[in-house]
Amino acid sequence: MTIGANLEQLFSLEGKVILLTGATGGIGSVLAKGLASTGATMVLADLEQSALDQLCLELDGSGHSGYELDISQVSRLEDFAGSIAEKHGKIDVLINCAGINKREGLLDVEEKTYDKIMDVNLKGLFFLSQAVVRKSMIRTGGKIINLASFTSTSTLGGVSVYGATKSGVAALTRSMAIEWAKYNIQANAIAPGHILTALTQVTWDHKERAAYLRERIAAERPGLPEELVSLTILLASNSSDYITGALINVDGGALAGGKPWPFDTQY
Ligand SMILES: NC(=O)c1ccc[n+]([C@@H]2O[C@H](COP(=O)([O-])OP(=O)(O)OC[C@H]3O[C@@H](n4cnc5c(N)ncnc54)[C@H](O)[C@@H]3O)[C@@H](O)[C@H]2O)c1
Repeated sequence: MTIGANLEQLFSLEGKVILLTGATGGIGSVLAKGLASTGATMVLADLEQSALDQLCLELDGSGHSGYELDISQVSRLEDFAGSIAEKHGKIDVLINCAGINKREGLLDVEEKTYDKIMDVNLKGLFFLSQAVVRKSMIRTGGKIINLASFTSTSTLGGVSVYGATKSGVAALTRSMAIEWAKYNIQANAIAPGHILTALTQVTWDHKERAAYLRERIAAERPGLPEELVSLTILLASNSSDYITGALINVDGGALAGGKPWPFDTQY
């Protein structure tokens, strides 16, 4: 059989139960729709029930559900993962997409802000992953997909704590990949560059800031949440069974060096 005829099967998520945090956000909601359209049963988690209910209605297929969950409440995570695993029999894929940021200079960050960003981006992700593995993947195998960032590798001004969490997410992804390989779990991180969402629209509408960013992106434009969907499908599907521990940049060439200089290259 040719690859062409097999294509749908290669990336099918039919029958897979996918737990997605940060589900109603700019990136999460687009991932939820893309994954549901390839046959997955989506278990959506975020802070507000009404937004989750609305998103469920917008997904292809049936059997999707939404749960109010604050991932920084670590004591709740094991029970939560247990109840989802019990209801569906398994959790095949965990996508850790919930994340927060507050832009301020290193000298201005207060302990409260530091703790809050760490608690969601790193601690919540750590303990939810641990809970999902304990309650399901240790028996069933599975895939963990962590949302890292451009700041896992590089940085911008005013994102010190956020960047530290996202570098931590890249490191944790490698630990998950090697320690949980024996359970047939693959863990990978997607590192989006500058993605246009409702929250970042204000930056892209700002003439000087948008120009600054365009200079630093080879593609000279922001990415769209939709441009993260195909990679997420690959990493959730059985086609990625030998991909693990990777940090995959989806950044329009920002980390590669951004826009090349326009000067004469003859020295
Ligand atoms: N937008 C970008 O340019 C960009 C770039 C790199 C990485 N990322 C990462 O991608 C992920 C999604 O970003 P986004 O742009 O969709 O942001 P977003 O703010 O639109 O969505 C984040 C979602 O996480 C939820 N959330 C926040 N705290 C939570 C908690 N304690 N428990 C459960 N849910 C919580 C929010 O309610 C929100 O729906 C984040 O991890 C972010 O760091 C985004």
